[in-house]
Amino acid sequence: MIHLKVMKAKNPEEVGKLAADQFELAIHAKPACVIGLATGSTPLPLYRELIAREKAGKLDFSRVRSANLDEYKGLAPDHPQSYRRFMQENLFDHISIKPENTIVPDGLAEDVDAMCAAYEKKIEDWGGVDVQLLGIGHDGHIGFNEPSNHFTQMTNEVKLTAMTREANKRFFSSIDEVPTAAYTMGIGTVMAAKKIVMVITGEDKAEILYKAFFGPVTPKVPASILQFHPDVTLICDEAAAKLMPQ
Ligand code: GLP
Repeated sequence: MIHLKVMKAKNPEEVGKLAADQFELAIHAKPACVIGLATGSTPLPLYRELIAREKAGKLDFSRVRSANLDEYKGLAPDHPQSYRRFMQENLFDHISIKPENTIVPDGLAEDVDAMCAAYEKKIEDWGGVDVQLLGIGHDGHIGFNEPSNHFTQMTNEVKLTAMTREANKRFFSSIDEVPTAAYTMGIGTVMAAKKIVMVITGEDKAEILYKAFFGPVTPKVPASILQFHPDVTLICDEAAAKLMPQ
């Protein structure tokens, strides 16, 4: 374990507030900073807190740039379950961030290699990600980087595992509607962020939290690579921290 900072909170709302503090610090230090954003239910308290803080005049997103981790293959930006739509509804539509300053991989890309390369180039042109937000899947995936025999590098197309499709089917009317593939920043893209903030809540994530941060570093648990990142802040609630060594 190299530079892991751990913040334990009572509940998911408190996790959201502690994570919001990290983003507030970054935006105050650099008003045009580049933030990497994530979907899933874990970041929702954070997004509510960021919206409230801008409304209260404590934060200003007007110069911030954001790059999302991933998007389902085949879903249009306005599809109810697309990650673009998720970000609009849960964050972007309620803050002053400029639409042209928000990027999400294009689920409808015809030339996938070109879309992925352009995504990486845009992040590079912006000067790289200053703070990357991450959640974690039950199988240790970050973004949509699923367990594998190798760590993926840059933004790429991935097949979704049965476990991930099962976990995410709650948002669709049936399992058949859950896409079988997605586009995601690679592990290399994530590791290039200057700072990483990972949020984990709920007892059902206690085991994977333990494996990711206290088990061996292996592509079978993609998040375990974060043990090699120089600046990771793990913010979790008591339930998720249950198996964490004291
Ligand atoms: C999806 C996303 C991940 C997210 C994960 C966990 O698969 N691609 O970025 O971390 O879900 O989501 P939740 O926070 O809802 O458990």
